[in-house]
Order: sequence, then structure tokens, then C-alpha cells
Amino acid sequence: MYSSRKICLPITVILLAAGSLAGAAEPGSFGYGRVATPAQIAGWDIDVRGEDGAGLPPGKGTVDRGADVYAEQCAACHGTFGEGEGRFPKLVGGVGSLRDERPEPTVGSYWPFAPTLWDYINRAMPMAAPHTLSADDVYALTAYILSLNDLVPHEFVADRNSLPKVKMRNRDNFIWSDPRPDTVAAPCMNACVNAADVRISSTAEGRNLTPRTTGPLDTMQPK
Ligand code: HEC
Repeated sequence: MYSSRKICLPITVILLAAGSLAGAAEPGSFGYGRVATPAQIAGWDIDVRGEDGAGLPPGKGTVDRGADVYAEQCAACHGTFGEGEGRFPKLVGGVGSLRDERPEPTVGSYWPFAPTLWDYINRAMPMAAPHTLSADDVYALTAYILSLNDLVPHEFVADRNSLPKVKMRNRDNFIWSDPRPDTVAAPCMNACVNAADVRISSTAEGRNLTPRTTGPLDTMQPK
């Protein structure tokens, strides 16, 4: 699993909680279920991290091969050159439109990371038959869509090393640091706060923020 730290924290907490429950009884002691095999877990563990492509499998694909697969499996909805048929999403264009009244977010104008394109196609496309493409064909489709967007040259070969190096147009407009306390706090299960360290730095008292009378609700307050 390759989620970034900010996503990882809550998941870790859930896993810890689940782990302690599971620890109370051996697997199978409820009379149902069985331990997932490594192969079963691998089937679910398909996420690819955008920033550095962690999780990308071996394999590779060319723009030309991608054009062939795309014509067969994608063009009906996304248009021969990614222009989008009907209301199906465009995969190209919209560059410079993100501040417009009607922005056009596409792979070319909006997406920050090329490995995410591999991940998305691999898990979700073609829409009616996800998980049917080989890793090589997903690489090829990724190369083709990047080339349609003029992000890579025609001779580009997509693989686990080349994709993270593709510089996407909108990459620098995403904000990565998240300073909220819950994203940086160390996980803690007990004695988390030392009462002596707690200082009240501000209070709503005296600022007229909370009305003194709250109408009928007031009668529900404990006296
Ligand atoms: C039956 C129509 C259909 C086919 C065929 C199809 N797609 Fe899609 N595709 C969609 C729809 C609908 C969405 C939007 C899904 C959503 O937003 O939940 C989408 C979304 C996408 C996106 C994300 C676009 C964005 O910027 O958010 C990509 C990339 C993509 N498809 C690639 C492909 C590729 C590659 C193929 C061929 C292997 C393919 N699609 C085949 C209908 C299709």
C-alpha cells in the first residue's frame, strides 16, 4: 500500500483497532472466514503512488501500441484523439482553462502525476470491463494518452522508471504540505495528553459567540 502519510494515518489507526480485536481470538474461532492468502491480498493491493510511481509493476508500452489498443477499446467513448464523444470525458485539451468560468480539467491540463494515469486506467478502464488489460497494454495506453497531450515525444516508452519522470503541466499547482495537527500528530492510544502541558490559549467566553438564551433548547440543558 502506497498511500501518502496523510492518508495513511487514519488507516493505521483502523488497522490497529482491527488488529487488537483480531488478536483477542485466533482466526477461525468464530467458525467462519479464513486468513487471506498473499495471492488474494496481492489482488487487492494494486494502488500506485502518483509522486514516485511506487507500486508500478514491471512491463512497458509504446505510443504506437497504445494507439492500437486505444482505437479498439477506448476511442468509442473518449474520441480517436481524446476529444471525448458526446458527454464522455475528454482526455486532452483544456490547457490554460482551469481559471475559466468553465474549466476543462483533463490529463493534459489538470492531472499532477503520470503514474496516476497508469493506476486509473488499470483499475477502472475500459469502463465496461475494468481489470482486463495487461500491464503492458496499460503502459502503452498511458504512453499514448501522454503523447496526445504533447507531454512526451512519439518515441516515448512508458515503464515504471519513465512515468514518474514525466513533468505534468499542473503539478506545481497542487499544495502538498498539510499542517493540520491531525496530519502530523503521532498516533496515540492512551495517556496521550499530559494535563500539565495543556494551556488554554483562547476562549469564546465574553465574546458574545454563544447566545445566553437558546429558546426551547435551553430547557433541555442540565440545571
Ligand atoms: C463505455 C465508455 C468508456 C470506455 C470504452 C472507456 N472509458 Fe474511460 N471513462 C469513461 C467515463 C464515463 C469516465 C468518467 C468516469 C468517472 O468520472 O467516474 C472515464 C474516465 C476516464 C479517464 C479519466 C479522465 C479524467 O480526466 O478524469 C481516463 C484516463 C480514461 N477514462 C481512460 C480510458 C481508457 C485508456 C480506455 C480504454 C482502455 C477507456 N477509458 C475506455 C468511459 C469510458
